[in-house]
Amino acid sequence: MKTETTIQGLSASLQTARAARKVIGFVATMGNLHEGHLNLVREARRLCDVVVVSIFVNPTQFGPNEDFDNYPRTLEQDSHLLAEVECDILFAPSVEQMYGTQPRLTTIHVEKITEDLCGLQRPGHFDGVALVVTKLLNIVQPTYAFFGEKDYQQLAVIKQFVQDLSIPVDVIGVPITRAGDGLALSSRNGYLTVEQRKIAPIIYQLLQTSSARLKEGATLDMVLRDIRQSLTEAGFVVDYVEARAVNLSHVESFEQDVVLFVAAKLGNTRLIDNLVVKYSKLIG
Ligand code: PAF
Repeated sequence: MKTETTIQGLSASLQTARAARKVIGFVATMGNLHEGHLNLVREARRLCDVVVVSIFVNPTQFGPNEDFDNYPRTLEQDSHLLAEVECDILFAPSVEQMYGTQPRLTTIHVEKITEDLCGLQRPGHFDGVALVVTKLLNIVQPTYAFFGEKDYQQLAVIKQFVQDLSIPVDVIGVPITRAGDGLALSSRNGYLTVEQRKIAPIIYQLLQTSSARLKEGATLDMVLRDIRQSLTEAGFVVDYVEARAVNLSHVESFEQDVVLFVAAKLGNTRLIDNLVVKYSKLIG
């Protein structure tokens, strides 16, 4: 595996692959890799000739009171893991390499679907994601780019601006990777204390129970209210518990596929998860 830290170096490394019209797969990460990331890389490996993974802790997607400075940076360990899953090129640029030294006057803002769920508590977050992902896609110019469905709203935002800006890439969503007890894997799980880690899988258990209840006829209002109450009783501070259609539009009732979303804090650690509940299964 090659490691490149500059845009020029990466372009040089990709020159032969581009000339030979190889299929380039791209996985964008902020590092501190876990099985969830590695599954994205495995999927890229399965579908593509050349796999590029970026590790870049992107300052523009962190709010002033968020964990940018403390975000775990584990480049050496990540690099070993990526070599094991046969990544071809690791792109690990500095902030200066990505953003330069001149003032930036361009923003990329996706409307509507960024306004609620995580967008409400994290103003500007998705602008930062849209900006850095656009830059990375322009730099890497992959055929396919792989993103996790755990960040469902992020994936929807990326698909939206890729379409709106005619960026020539296929965006592929990859299912959530979970620990044996159901907790969705996240770099932030590492912040949990031993006690909190034991409590955290409740989120997924509640999502699963709610899915079953919806299929048995419970209303969306009922299940959302009960998830919120159970999380609070378990010691979470709930940020949101919501249901949306798969395209993130609002839904009142379970008469189509819905996505249940949870964001909740355990101590200082904010956890998110989601579950798609298929309506078709009821009638199919
Ligand atoms: O999901 C992430 O890790 C980040 O938001 C991403 C897509 C790498 C952009 O910085």
